[in-house]
Amino acid sequence: MELLENLKWRYATKKFDFGKKVNDEDLEKLKEAIQLAVSSYGLQLYKVLIISEEKLKEKLRTVSWDQSQITDASHLFVFCNYSERNDKHVDDYIKAVSDIQQTPMEKLEGYQNLIKQSLGSKNDDEWQSWSQKQTYLAMSNLLTACAELKIDACPIEGFESEKYNEILGLGQKGLNACVIVPVGYRSNDDHTQFRKKVRKPMAELFEMV
Ligand SMILES: Cc1cc2nc3c(=O)[nH]c(=O)nc-3n(C[C@H](O)[C@H](O)[C@H](O)COP(=O)(O)O)c2cc1C
Repeated sequence: MELLENLKWRYATKKFDFGKKVNDEDLEKLKEAIQLAVSSYGLQLYKVLIISEEKLKEKLRTVSWDQSQITDASHLFVFCNYSERNDKHVDDYIKAVSDIQQTPMEKLEGYQNLIKQSLGSKNDDEWQSWSQKQTYLAMSNLLTACAELKIDACPIEGFESEKYNEILGLGQKGLNACVIVPVGYRSNDDHTQFRKKVRKPMAELFEMV
């Protein structure tokens, strides 16, 4: 299974080669992999910013624990969850289902109400947590797609979310920077690439019932 080999090849890249850039064709494939991510009800409650502008990356590095991956990577993917509940997310989704799957809106009304009811029952903290979980699933697709394309990546939570929201003007769009992923190519002198993977043994990780 080639996927397993790719997953063994990938690692959380600590040092990127600044001179190597991801080409447009591969970038489109990565975007499509994110687009195809699973999400609860299919709502995709997130937006992804892809930043390649060097000055902006430099600014973001200062609020990302000065991690060099932010500036050295080819592109910085900023996964943002929608921070506020809004029935429009549901209405837009149902409209898309109706258009794409050629189903009359009336037939989807029950489902539409059920989703709204379920979302409405969440308090603010539950909403944040839930919409962020969806966002992480999309991020995971990016990491897997990168591995298949032999593109390096590093998932990063070590950044100041509030500062990202300010710098990127996310608040006014109802968005919140949730997790980020610099993407590019490993530097030859990134020694972490030679470290053995540390994972729990199968017997500890799984229980066959
Ligand atoms: C949500 C998340 C946040 C992470 N944050 C950081 C980070 O801020 N900086 C970093 O260098 N690595 C970060 N990592 C990378 C992990 O440390 C790494 O994935 C883990 O140690 C397993 O190693 P591997 O990915 O090389 O197999 C993060 C990983 C995840 C999934």
